Order: sequence, then C-alpha cells, then structure tokens
Amino acid sequence: MSNQSRTILITSALPYANGPIHLGHMLEHIQTDIWNRFQKMRGHHSIFVCADDAHGTPIMLRAQKEGITPEQLIEKSKREHQADFAGFSIGFDNYHSTHSEENKTLSAMIYTRLREAGHINSRVIKQAYDPEKEMFLPDRFIKGECPKCGAADQYGDNCEACGASYSPTELKNAVSALSGAKPIEKESEHFFFKLGDFETMLKHWSTEGHVQKEVANKLNEWFEGGLQEWDISRDAPYFGFEIPDQPGKYFYVWLDAPVGYMASFKNLCAQRDDLNFDDFWGPESKAELYHFIGKDIAYFHTLFWPAMLKGANLRTPTAVFCHGFLTVNGAKMSKSRGTFIMARTYLEHLNPEHLRYYLAAKMGSDLSDMDLNMEDFMLRVNSDLVGKVVNIASRCAGFIRKRFNNRLTENLSEPALFAEFIAQGDTIASQYENREFGHAMRSIMALADKANQYIDEQQPWVVAKKEGEDEQLHAICSMGINLFRVIIGYLKPVLPVTTEKSELFLNSGEILWREIKNPLLGHEINKFKPLMTRVERDKVDAMLAASQQHMQAITPPAPTGPLTENPIKEEISFDDFAKIDLRIARIVAAERVEKADKLLQLTLDIGGESRTVFAGIKSAYTPEQLKGKLTVVVANLAPRKMRFGLSEGMVLAAGPGGEELWILSPDEGAQPGMQVK
Ligand code: 2FM
Ligand code: ZN
Repeated sequence: MSNQSRTILITSALPYANGPIHLGHMLEHIQTDIWNRFQKMRGHHSIFVCADDAHGTPIMLRAQKEGITPEQLIEKSKREHQADFAGFSIGFDNYHSTHSEENKTLSAMIYTRLREAGHINSRVIKQAYDPEKEMFLPDRFIKGECPKCGAADQYGDNCEACGASYSPTELKNAVSALSGAKPIEKESEHFFFKLGDFETMLKHWSTEGHVQKEVANKLNEWFEGGLQEWDISRDAPYFGFEIPDQPGKYFYVWLDAPVGYMASFKNLCAQRDDLNFDDFWGPESKAELYHFIGKDIAYFHTLFWPAMLKGANLRTPTAVFCHGFLTVNGAKMSKSRGTFIMARTYLEHLNPEHLRYYLAAKMGSDLSDMDLNMEDFMLRVNSDLVGKVVNIASRCAGFIRKRFNNRLTENLSEPALFAEFIAQGDTIASQYENREFGHAMRSIMALADKANQYIDEQQPWVVAKKEGEDEQLHAICSMGINLFRVIIGYLKPVLPVTTEKSELFLNSGEILWREIKNPLLGHEINKFKPLMTRVERDKVDAMLAASQQHMQAITPPAPTGPLTENPIKEEISFDDFAKIDLRIARIVAAERVEKADKLLQLTLDIGGESRTVFAGIKSAYTPEQLKGKLTVVVANLAPRKMRFGLSEGMVLAAGPGGEELWILSPDEGAQPGMQVK
C-alpha cells in the first residue's frame, strides 16, 4: 500500500428526523466511523460528514400530530440524534441538516443544471387525493381491502395476507389513513428526472469497481428492467424545498437528501480554512468520495445519485459501500418483541465500546445481515476484550509500578516476539482498508492470545516471589506492556475510548499506525486504572426490558381500540361456524419465498397429511423461529392459486400486521390433526 496521503470524504446515510436512532443506524455509523478512524490513524486526510434527513410527508404529519412546527420537530431530533451518536463515539467532522441554506442552494443548483441540460420532463399525472386533508396521499397513507383476497386494512400496493400486488387505486373501500375520507383521483403536474439519459454512463460506472459485486448484479437487473423516469416533485402541503420557478411544487425528499452530503460538507468548509468545496465535488476532484449505506437504499445511491451528479457536472462517488441489516437474536428488530433497541436505551445500560467491538467482529465487506445475539455478545466481549486484551495490561502494570517505579526496560527481552506482532500490521491494515473488520478482529485476537500465552509461560507472579530475579520480572512485564500497546493500537479505530484511556496509561501520546512499531523503552508509564468492565447479564436483561417498555410508551395506542377499528362482523349461525374445520398443525418446514416481501412458505403436518401454505407473516417471523412450532390451520379452506404456488389452507394469526402479528400456537401436547373446537 502506498504511503502517500490520500484525501477522503466519507458519509453515512442521513437518518430521518422523525424517529429515534436505533441499533440498525448504529451498525452503519459504527462501520463508517471505524473506517474513518482507521484512515485518519494511517495519516490520511479523511473527513466524515452526515446530517439529519429532515424533509418529507411523514415528518410534516408527525409535527402536526405533536402540535409543533416541522422546524421545531427536526431541531429536537437533530439534538437527540447527535447526542446518541456522540454516546457511541461516532466522530463526525460535521453533522448538519438537509433543511439548511446550503442544501437549498445546492439542490436548486443541481436541479437547474439538470433542467438546462434537458434532463427534466414534466407531465400531468393522476393520484389519490384526500379531500378532507386537502393533500395528495402517498401509497402508505391509503388503506382498504385487498382486491384479491378481501383482507381488511391493507396499505399501499401489496397485501400482507395473500401477497398480491396491485395499485393503491384498486383497493376496495379505500380510505385515507389520515382522515378516513374516501380518496378521490386528482390531476397534478409533476417533474421527472430522465434517468434513462444516463444509461450508458451508469452501465460503465457500474463495472468500474465503484460498487460491490452483489450490487453490480442488482444494477444489471435494473438495467434490464429499463430505467424509468423518476418523479422528483411533490405538491403542497409538503415540508421541503420549493422547486425553482414552480410555486407550490416541492422537491421530493429523496432529491435533496443525498445533496445533504454535499451541504454538510459545504457547511464544514465555512468553518475550516483548509477545505475547498470544489476540490471535493468539482468534476476534476482528486479526492476520494465514499458513501456507506444500507442495501435497501442502493437504488438511490447507485443510479439516481451518480446520474444527478454527472448531469450537474459534478464528480461521481469513488465507491458506494452497502451493508446488510442488523437482526437481534436472529430476528428482524421488532418493537413488540422488545428487540427494537434504541441507541439511547442501549447507552443507558451498556458500554458503547462493547457494541462497537461486537459488531466490528461480525462485519465484512459484503451485504449479509449481522446478528446481535445477546448471549454471544456477552460471551464474546467478556472473553475477548476483558479476558484477553485488557487483561494483558492489568497482569503486568502492577509489577511495573510497585517494583520498577513505573519505568519500562531499556530493551525488549523478546525482540522476535515483538517483531511477529509488528509483522501482522500490514495484514490488519489491509483488512481494515477492505472493510473486513471481522477478519481484522480475528487477527488481533490471535495476537492477544499469543501475548497471554507469553505471560502464562513466563509466570511473572512466580518470578516476582523469587529473590534476585527482578531483572527477569522487569523484562517480562515490559514486554507484556509493549505487546498490549501494539494490540490496543490495532484496535484503536474500533475502541476510541478504551484507546484513549490506554494512551493515558501508557503516557505515550496519541498512537498513530506508523508509530505502533516503535516500542516504549526506558519510558515511564502512568498508574493503571481499569480500562473496561465485564458485560453483566442483569444489565443486558434490563436493557431488553427497557426497550420493550419504551416501545410501548412511544408507540401511541391506536386512537380507537382494535374492536372499534375492526368491528365484530355480522352474526353467524352455529351451523356456519361448524363448517370451518380448524386443525392443529405442526410447522415442519418454513422457507422464504423468492421475490415475495411478505410471504413465508410453510409445510404443515396436520396429522398424517402434509400441506403447503403461504402465510403473510414474514415481517414478524424468521423461518427459523417457526420451524417445529404448533399452530392452528383452517383445514377445509378451498385451495387458492397464488403467484408463488398453491396455498392449501390458512394459518391463524392475530394483530394489525407487519411485525405486529402473532400466530396462534397451542401448548405442546396438542397433536397435529386434532380438531379445534
Ligand atoms: O433511508 C433513509 O433513512 C434515508 N433517510 C437515507 C437518506 S441517505 C441520503 F441519501 F441522504
Ligand atoms: Zn390479499
């Protein structure tokens, strides 16, 4: 790797201002922060910016509901978000907001350049409109009955019960989720970005190493499907920026969101003399530009964003780094299950460096999801950080202080061992550089094992009791402290707080990567203070319990109870009821269904007979959670042909939908095939 200093601008996706920071956000910000800290430590000129994503309908409606202005809402969110990020030591160089002067100017500039170059179209389109609220309704604010299976309370454009896709206008008895009014269709002029103009450019860009291979494959699918024009306008009322020369029309939130990266950087330029905006964003920029994002927003960052930049005569990203999602205990974070963990709740109970390390140990450069398994978290952190790393220092520091006046030896007694540790530096650096943090953590822990093995063999506690072996004791413990220093140096991007405490203890100043190789010799260290304590089970339990409570507190109860929202249906006779044959079933297999967002394919044993049922419960359960469970099935429902195959029955579940869905599950002891009466 070249020693030349690089100029790097790094971003994490901008969190929406209408919700709290949760551990899903933290996964991304921790990944970005580790990479940024690593680059800085290598001596590169690296800048990390972010901002709150402050525009859009949900933010406007949320403010209305709270009886405050959107400005007040986003101000409060920004403060809270910044405090949460600071709690996890996310070292932004700047944290701004998309609702800023810089962003307004830059968004208008980009749009105007695109328009002048002929990349903007306009035409009149028809959309659902709430006549009471007097606003157009985004899909997710329209609900009604599924046109295919009749399931009630379906939102948007697909049915959670049967998996059908449709247009929101096809929903039966559709109502506005905001006012309950029946939406009407209304025409309005919209503005479109002609993404297709950039097809050739994007096709090249996608093969030049700017995206991961999984993303390049996805891009090929999108190219094959054809690049559609992108609707970049919304009608008033909307919380956002008005489109230049188009009163009453606003930029769709996703137009000005990525421009927020530039705006945050521009805002930083005003605070610092050493930064020049055009050096980073001009068409000839030599700086490197990296966006860390979740895989769900790849479309925006690998198609719209580079095309917008190109069309506006600005530089395009060096790379977009996508990551997978965070699961907790093997399942999607779920509010109702208490595994939707807010950053604040975590911080109130546990040490942020523990999460930084645990997630780093699971991170790779691909798009796979990462699981925070609370048992494994405790074991891993306690064994690696407390049991291995910190232990090296604490095993040696006392002797150095009591017996040698805090001074380390003039020479290393085991230069070969030290050299082995230094020799790993390049490997670890390239693991960090390639975002293979899990591999880096394993390499570092292998060194920690080696250091502990050295101390175990040398037994300083035995040597300490022998007369005339002071020199030997001094040599062992000085070696131990120096090995600890190398390890903590390698861990510095992941553990900034523990490293800072260690730097104080080592009395060595800030550890830079290139200085790790210079041992501390004839050097006075400071008194050792405990660097880190263990993860305690009761704290983890308290954190999970608090997560469940917070969620109940912040998820407002439905204004009316489930009964009034979903009134009891017309009375039926006993004979009608007797027609329904409910049976106990064992879920023998559960699988994800390719291309279905909501469905899981279940194989049921209903007592000597096997049935395949497609159930819309994917957002609430992973296949692993369902396998082996007992449930109740409507066994005599006529089979239904669905897009993905034949569904031979229906599994019973309760709840409003999404992740709030619970399958009915009898106690063990019930036998598959038994009739439910
Ligand atoms: O998906 C999200 O949470 C968006 N707020 C991310 C925006 S990233 C960038 F484009 F601004
Ligand atoms: Zn349906």
